[in-house]
Amino acid sequence: MTDHFQVKMAEMNFEADRPKAENPVKIMDLTLRDGHQSLFATRGRTEDMIPVAEMMDNIGFWAVEVWGGATFDTTHRFLNEDPWERLRTMKRYFKNTPLSMLLRAQNLVGYRNYPDDVAKAFVQRTAENGMDIFRTFDALNDFRNFETVVKEIKAAGKHFQGCVCYTLTGPRMGGEIYNLEFYLNKAKELEDMGADTICIKDMAGLLAPYDAFDLVKALKETVKPPIHLHSHFTSGMSPMTHLKAIEAGVDIIDTCMSPYAYRTSHAAIEPLVVTLYGTSRDTGFSVKALDEINQKLENDILPKYKHLLDDSKVSIIDTNVLLHQTPGGMLSNLVNQLREMDALDRINEVYELLPKVRKDLGQVPLVTPTSQIVGIQTVNNVLFDSENDTYKMTTQQVKDLCYGLYGKTAAPINPDVQKKVLKGYPRGEEPITCRPAEILEPELEKAKEDVKDLAADLDDVLIYALYPTTGKKFLKYKYGLEDPPESLKAKTLEQAKKEEDLVRKARAGKVVAKKTPEDEEGLRKFTVVVDDEVFEVRVEDKNPPVIMQAAPALSAPPAHAAPQQDTQTQAPARQQAPVRQAAPTSPKPAPKPAPDAKAADAKPAAPSAAPADGTPIKAPMPGTVIRFEKKVGDTVNEGDTVVILEAMKMENSLTATTSGTLKSINYREGDAVAKNDVICVIG
Ligand code: CO
Repeated sequence: MTDHFQVKMAEMNFEADRPKAENPVKIMDLTLRDGHQSLFATRGRTEDMIPVAEMMDNIGFWAVEVWGGATFDTTHRFLNEDPWERLRTMKRYFKNTPLSMLLRAQNLVGYRNYPDDVAKAFVQRTAENGMDIFRTFDALNDFRNFETVVKEIKAAGKHFQGCVCYTLTGPRMGGEIYNLEFYLNKAKELEDMGADTICIKDMAGLLAPYDAFDLVKALKETVKPPIHLHSHFTSGMSPMTHLKAIEAGVDIIDTCMSPYAYRTSHAAIEPLVVTLYGTSRDTGFSVKALDEINQKLENDILPKYKHLLDDSKVSIIDTNVLLHQTPGGMLSNLVNQLREMDALDRINEVYELLPKVRKDLGQVPLVTPTSQIVGIQTVNNVLFDSENDTYKMTTQQVKDLCYGLYGKTAAPINPDVQKKVLKGYPRGEEPITCRPAEILEPELEKAKEDVKDLAADLDDVLIYALYPTTGKKFLKYKYGLEDPPESLKAKTLEQAKKEEDLVRKARAGKVVAKKTPEDEEGLRKFTVVVDDEVFEVRVEDKNPPVIMQAAPALSAPPAHAAPQQDTQTQAPARQQAPVRQAAPTSPKPAPKPAPDAKAADAKPAAPSAAPADGTPIKAPMPGTVIRFEKKVGDTVNEGDTVVILEAMKMENSLTATTSGTLKSINYREGDAVAKNDVICVIG
C-alpha cells in the first residue's frame, strides 16, 4: 500500500508542488498520553517514548500531549517510574514542539479536589519541570475549580487552555441542559478567565459531525481564542466530526499516530493529512515521515504492550457508547473490576443502570473522575442493592459529590439519594454551595512532615500528597528502602516475542508440560492450572514432593503480612513457614489451597480461622486497605464505618453489620486484599 502511494506521489511530484496552505489545521498529537491511556491503560514506559520522540519533534505538531491525565498515577503505581522524570525526559527530547498536559483543574492529576496549597505547588512544579500548555478541565464544568490553578499557570507565563467537557443527555446536542447556549456560555466564561485557547473535550466520541459544525461555527463567532477539538473515536464518528469542524473553521485538532489510534483512542493523523492535501487547510505534514515513526512504534514498541490491548472484540467501533455515553477508559476499568469480582456476566446490568445513577447524581459529564464515581457506584448498586434498599454501599466519592465537594452539578442531585448518602457524613449532612476548595484544610505542610525522612524535594512530597499510599511505596522503591516487586518491571522485546510465540504454539496445541532444571535450592518450577487460575509452584524433586510456595502467577501476590510485621525486614515469602501439604506427584492438578492455608502462611495467629466466635468484615471486592476508622478493642455499633477499602481508585466504607467490640484487625493500611478476605472481626 505504502509503495503504491509513494509511486503515485512521485509521479505527480506532489511534495515539490505542494502549495503552502493559507490556514493550515494545527495538530496536537496525543500518542504518548491519551493514546496509550485509551488503548492500554497508560502503561507506556518512558524508555518506549524516547525512540520516537525526536522523530515526532520534527513533524510540525502544534504540541504533543505527553503528561497529566492518568500518567502521574500509573508511572509511580505500576511502572516504578518517577512521573516528574517522565516530564523532564520528554522536555529534553522535544526541542521544537511545546509539551501539553491534561490537568483535572482542582483534581490536578488525581481523583478528588485537593486543597489550594497543594494545587498551587503542583502547578508551579509542573511549569518548572518543563510543561508548556496546561489543558485544564473540570469534570462538572464548574469553573470555580479553575480559579487556583489558572492563577498559577498565568503567573508561570504558560499557556492556559480551557476545556468544556462535551456531554449529552440524548443522541444529539440540545435538550434542557447540554444545548448550544450551554457550550457558548461556558466558552465565554473561559475567555473571561483569560483562556489562550478553548477546547471542546469530547471524551466519549459523542459529538456528531453536524453538531460539531454548528458548535464550532458558533464558537468562532462568539469568542476570540482559537478553538481546539478533542474528540475520541469510540463511537466511530470522529473522522467525520473532524472534517465538519475543519469546514466550520476549527483551529486545532487532536489525533494519534496510527498504531495508537482508533478504538477508544483518537482518529489517526495520516488519513487527515492526505484528506487535506493541497487544500487551504493542508497540515503540511509529510506522510512519509509519519510512516517512519509508525514503523518504529509498530515493530519495536507495541509488541511489548500487545498483551494489554483489549482484543476481545473484532469491531473497532462501540455503538453502545451512543446509548450509555461511557468513555473508553471507564469501560475498560468497569470490565476489569467486574472480572476481578467474578461478575463480568453482569456488565449489561451495569450499562442499563448507569443512566439512572448519572441522573440521580446531577447528570454529570462522564469524565475522570466523575466517570469512575458514577461507574463504580453503578457497579456497587448492581452488586449490592436490593429492591427496597438502594445506594446500600456508597463510595466516599459519591458522598463527597452529594456534599458539593466536587462543585456544582449541571442538574440538581436527586434529593432522596442526597439525603440518604449524606447521613452521618462527617463534614455535615447539609451540602455546601461555595467553591469546594474553600472548605479544604491545607495539606502540604503535613505531607512534608509525613515524608520528611523519605522525600528529597518538593516533587517527591507532591507524589505523596497526591497519592499517599502508592506514592509512599514508590518513594521507598526510589530510594532503595524496598525492592519493587517483579510485576512493576519492564518487559523486554525479546520476552514479549517469546511469550507471543508460546501463546501461538499453545493455540496450535504444540505445548507440553515440561519441568525446568533444579534451581540452586534443589527446587523445580512447575506451572499448574487450577480452575483457570495459573499457579507457579516450586517442588522439591523427591518423595513425597512438598509445595513450598503457591502464588497466583498472573497477578501480584497479595501482601499478607501480619499487622506487627515490618515489610522492610520481611523475609521472602518462600522462607516463611512453608505450607506443607500433600501434593500430586505429576499430572493430577494440585489441590486449590484452602483459604485458611493462605492466611496461615504469613499470620501465625490465623485470625481468619476465628470467625466462628465473631462476625467478620470481609472485603466485598479486591482492593487496598486505606485506613481503619476503629481500632482493636473499640466498641462498634451496627452501621459504623470500620474500614475504608480502595477499589478502582474509589474509597468504599465497609460498615459493621452487628454491634460489639472490634476483636481483631488482620491487615495493615496499604495492604492488598482479595475478595472475601476477612479484614477484621467484631465479637
Ligand atoms: Co481524551
